[in-house]
Parts: sequence; C-alpha cells; structure tokens
Amino acid sequence: MSLSSRHLLGLNGVPKEDIQLILDTARTFREVLERPIKKVPTLQGKTIVNLFYENSTRTRISFELAQKRLSADTINFTTSASSAKKGETFKDTVRNIEAMKVDMIIVRHQSAGVPQYLTRISKANIINAGDGLHEHPTQGLLDIYSIIEKKGRLEGLNVCIAGDIAHSRVALSNIFGLKTMGANVSVCGPTTMIPAGIESLGVKVYNNIDKAIAENNVLNVLRIQLERDAGRRIPSLREYHQYFGITAERLEKRNKEILILHPGPINRGVEISSEVADGPYQVILDQVTNGVAVRMAVLYLLGTMHN
Ligand code: CP
Repeated sequence: MSLSSRHLLGLNGVPKEDIQLILDTARTFREVLERPIKKVPTLQGKTIVNLFYENSTRTRISFELAQKRLSADTINFTTSASSAKKGETFKDTVRNIEAMKVDMIIVRHQSAGVPQYLTRISKANIINAGDGLHEHPTQGLLDIYSIIEKKGRLEGLNVCIAGDIAHSRVALSNIFGLKTMGANVSVCGPTTMIPAGIESLGVKVYNNIDKAIAENNVLNVLRIQLERDAGRRIPSLREYHQYFGITAERLEKRNKEILILHPGPINRGVEISSEVADGPYQVILDQVTNGVAVRMAVLYLLGTMHN
C-alpha cells in the first residue's frame, strides 16, 4: 500500500484511502512511542530538512522528533540564523540546501503556495508544515486521529471548528480532511471571522457558540490570531470571550459529552478558559502526542515510496 502522491501539500483532494493509510500507519507508530526504546530504523540513511520561515513549537519539534524516531538524519533551518538575513532568495536557499543531497523538505512559510512552488524547484518529497492562511495538513490529520481515538469513529459525527476561521490554515485542512472521512462539518465564530462563501465547501455556519456546543460531538477551538491582526475584527478580547469563549459553564449547560480540541498555541481566557484548557473535556496534549505518530506515518510513507 502506498500514497497516491509523493508530496503532502494539503488535504484538499487527498483520497480517503490515503488518509486511512496514514491513520492506520500512525496507529502502529503510536505503539512504538509507548515502548522503552522509541526508535525504529525505517528511514536510516535519509536526510530531512526542516525549513521553517515562521515560528513554531509543536509542529517543528514534533517533525524533528518523528524524524529522529525513524532514524533519519535531520537538519534544522531557521531564517534568523541563515543567509536569508543577508538577502539570499528563497529559491537560492533551497537550491543550495538541495545540493547537499537531501531527500525530504518540511516547509513552514508565511506565504500560501510555497510548498507547491517547492515541488517545482526541488526533487525532494515536500511536506507542508503550514503555509500562510492556506493549509496545515499534518495538523488536520492529527486532529482526525485524535477524534477517532476518543470517539471511536468519524463517520456521521458532528464536528464544529470554532474561532478565527478567516486566519486559520488549520480550519481548511480540518474541513477537507473531516469531510473526506465522513464527518458533518461546521464552523462557528463572529461573522467578521468567517470567510464569505465558506458554505460552498459544504460546511454549516454558526454565529452562536451555545447552539454549536449543543449540536456538535466535537469542538475544535481555534486561536484568535492576534499576530495576523485578528484583533481588528472584534470589539475586544474580553467581548470575544464573553460571546464565543469556551467555558466550563457553557459546556456543562449545553453538552456534557462534547470533546474539545485545540491545535495550540492557546490564548487562555480568550477563545478558551483555563478551566476548560486543563479540564476533563479536552484532549489538547493527546493531540500533541498523536502528532508525533502521525508525522512519523507521513514521513515513513513518503520516505519509503519509489519516487
Ligand atoms: N499547532 C501548531 O501548528 O503549533 P505551532 O505553531 O507551535 O507549530
């Protein structure tokens, strides 16, 4: 069994069989992560570059750890410590890195489309670790994995993505992946944070978080992206929390069975209260653990493909 593409650029258009194969493979690696020696020789001899032009804690460390667990050689590129700071172009940077014989490039970039562009200028397998406001496919996959792990299925579940949808690449990858796997997907947030025409992706739109909580099995809570000027779309963070914040009181009143996800980083007291972020409804750190297994699966499946 192998994936239908040698790159993972997004979940839009990825066949159900591919997603299922990644999830099944991740389940095997999840077991490896519970062993005393959490390492397999699967990608021995492969060289992988983590090309991060944007900040990251979870995705970057998770990819690096996944590479180490698979015995690959890992190189980390950080813009602030690179010759990009001396004016070297993105294309020249990539061509120079590739001249050192790398097999795979994991890229995070502030501009949408950069992973796609990389497939044109590089022979390596490309994995998108988040491009602008476009997609973050491995986050979508680990969210799907975590929902199935906790709920036992995805088919027919009502899953709502709540928060700053307009600035979120996690939202799009979730929408595409969840719908392919048979979930009923909705989004919830203030009108100013819901992209116009999002219904055309086959999602329901809520502007009332209490209704969304009552009608869904899973709520994936997204961060208000203050660094992307999200603050200008709402009157104040205090009011956002009042009308859309996920609090224990709201959950207890409307839906005690709901599962709460958050991709992180969290704005405590804005989109989610600390009580919920650390409480019994959420699986936020399980998502992080599962992220390593899911990324091991993607690296393994792409790294062992016959290119
Ligand atoms: N969820 C996520 O992408 O987090 P980081 O920005 O820390 O990688």
